[in-house]
Amino acid sequence: MAITLQTVTGNNLARYIQDLARLRMEVFRAFPYLYDGSLEYEAHYLETYLRCPDAAMILVFDQDQVVGASSCIPLRAEDEAFQKPLRAAGFALDTIFYCGESVLAQAYRGQGLGVAFFREREAHAARLGGFTHSCFCAVDRPLNHPLRPMDYVPLDQFWTKRGYVKQSHLVARLSWQDIDQPLPTEKTLTYWMKTLV
Ligand SMILES: CC(C)(COP(=O)(O)OP(=O)(O)OC[C@H]1O[C@@H](n2cnc3c(N)ncnc32)[C@H](O)[C@@H]1OP(=O)(O)O)[C@@H](O)C(=O)NCCC(=O)NCCS
Repeated sequence: MAITLQTVTGNNLARYIQDLARLRMEVFRAFPYLYDGSLEYEAHYLETYLRCPDAAMILVFDQDQVVGASSCIPLRAEDEAFQKPLRAAGFALDTIFYCGESVLAQAYRGQGLGVAFFREREAHAARLGGFTHSCFCAVDRPLNHPLRPMDYVPLDQFWTKRGYVKQSHLVARLSWQDIDQPLPTEKTLTYWMKTLV
């Protein structure tokens, strides 16, 4: 397989929107997201990244096919839902870099691409300059959730190894429709943060 990584910024992402929406909807149907995606929400979500020249996605290509993606953006350009908890906690939003989702088609997992996603996003933050912290949010699901696979392994260790620390007191709230629910429901997402040097 000829796997390559490319960092694509802002408006240059426009040509990959369909690929990104497809990947997100495919990968996020699984636990813990259980996301019953809609193209309408995807278009809105991805618009935020298109509008911001400093936003980037690390795209994984197998030949010319997009098989993975990982997003990042200065927090000041993210949606209010992601800014609000950190503003309320007294952080200066301009100094915080936000890592969005990482989605990789199943066949390409376990080869170090997840590690590369963090490395390349933090490299993008360093190129932009001015950030003291990097953060992301992880959805909270109860241990006894009926759709939790028996063999599900949380990503906490993977994130800890990348230098991120869970901030149990910092929580964002977001709604989406779970695959087993008739209507959208609100979830909490806990922040993880890393001090950038
Ligand atoms: C998260 C994800 C991008 C990781 O990508 P990956 O390329 O498989 O990860 P890597 O090969 O770089 O593995 C890195 C480490 O994480 C571990 N790891 C990777 N995926 C894991 C998983 N699902 N569960 C537990 N550990 C995992 C690996 O064992 C490895 O450990 P090591 O650092 O001790 O060697 C990929 O599994 C994925 O797309 N998952 C579904 C979506 C998701 O949960 N995204 C994250 C939040 S948005």
